[in-house]
Amino acid sequence: MNLTFIGTGYVGLVSGVCFSEIGNQVTCVDSNQDKIKQLNRGHVPIYEPGLKELIQKNQSQGRLKFTSRLSEAVQEADIIFICVGTPPLASGEADLTYIKQAAQDIALEMNGYKIIVTKSTVPVGTNDLISSIMQQLSQHPFDVVSTPEFLREGTAVQDTLHPDRVIIGTEDERVAAKMAELHRPLSSNIMITDIRSAEMIKYASNAFLATKISFINEIANICEKVGADVTEVAAGMGQDRRIGSSFLQAGIGYGGSCFPKDTDALIQIAGNVDYEFKLLKSVVEVNKDQRFNVIAKLKHCLGDLKDKQIGIWGLAFKPNTDDVRETPAMEIMEELLQEGAIVKAYDPIAADNFRKSFRHEDLVIWSPDAKAAAAECDALCLLTDWAEFQDQDLKELQQLMKQPILIDGRNVYSREQVSQTDFQYYSIGRPD
Ligand code: UGA
Repeated sequence: MNLTFIGTGYVGLVSGVCFSEIGNQVTCVDSNQDKIKQLNRGHVPIYEPGLKELIQKNQSQGRLKFTSRLSEAVQEADIIFICVGTPPLASGEADLTYIKQAAQDIALEMNGYKIIVTKSTVPVGTNDLISSIMQQLSQHPFDVVSTPEFLREGTAVQDTLHPDRVIIGTEDERVAAKMAELHRPLSSNIMITDIRSAEMIKYASNAFLATKISFINEIANICEKVGADVTEVAAGMGQDRRIGSSFLQAGIGYGGSCFPKDTDALIQIAGNVDYEFKLLKSVVEVNKDQRFNVIAKLKHCLGDLKDKQIGIWGLAFKPNTDDVRETPAMEIMEELLQEGAIVKAYDPIAADNFRKSFRHEDLVIWSPDAKAAAAECDALCLLTDWAEFQDQDLKELQQLMKQPILIDGRNVYSREQVSQTDFQYYSIGRPD
């Protein structure tokens, strides 16, 4: 099929590339000409394992192209995917400016029947809004479908090529059949539903995963006080298939461009219909507090943090990405600087992005590698569970530090590993 993806952010780029990989003719459009130029030169704007290779392969085999010329891309397409951003407004509500603009742009370029698919995460009712914009501006027939995206950063290519499920929101049987045909090479688990339920499935899924994380983080906090081990508790809970073992990893809370934004937006969506989503409000609050456990643990070991040298390992919101949006490291480092600590920081991939968005960039010592960030420190805090940190020689590390204090915000090390060293070791929800 001829497919066009509008927006080459995470969702648009990865989806477009993966649909070309399974044999479709794909055009990815972005109004940012510089980004398109870079993509055409083989430069991939995000760090995502496997993506660059797939782009090169499908570009060279003529199935994938990048352009900023929207009219051609719309006119050649059978199906057009809207993959533009829906950033949060100050109220927490999703900003639909780019969605409305995309609908207008498509409507003005239509030359015949098309299916318009919304992949961006949009509040319930947005697809109806897209329909009404299209109807007002175009004479040509169209159908609007909601197919929310469930890919994770860091495993985006795998998630897109092998999704757990595909949700197709449409009330039209022929459109459903066409969308199912398109997705069948990716998954046999295809659920057809109405548009509003499809829109809600996306928010409800992210909110539920965020709830699991905040739940296990609170269990971890209690475990610390009663002398239990949260990793054992999570393992035991996870064996109940009704609970499941994933997303029960205690730590310093969730970050990224999705969970914080989508939980806030769902609270707003509920609020707009006079429903107070009390549970989700607590999930958000627990998450905000959880990152400061690292500071509490540091103070417990060192007392006043003024002039103490603190090493930070990991700035990305999770491993295998250079994304630093809503990363817990941002607030932790701000707080440390406010307390008068000297902060040294290292991340294998995300340091450049972090520096661009951190307002006290000039107050931090940016280290070229993990060892340099730990050297001469009074304490080291691990904030992102990169494999590189897991593989460190702890005995060697201990020699480099002024005081061997390790705060493991992601429960990366086992007790056996640490017991062979002189580290004063604190993790999340596990006995010290
Ligand atoms: C999340 C969802 O997992 C995807 O299904 C969804 O498509 C995506 O949002 C989106 O809406 O676009 P992502 O934000 O890429 O994906 O990352 P996750 O792997 O879900 O991790 C989110 C955060 O939760 C990270 O900060 C991670 O460290 C944290 N986390 C995750 C935990 O603290 N504990 C866990 O057990 C799992």
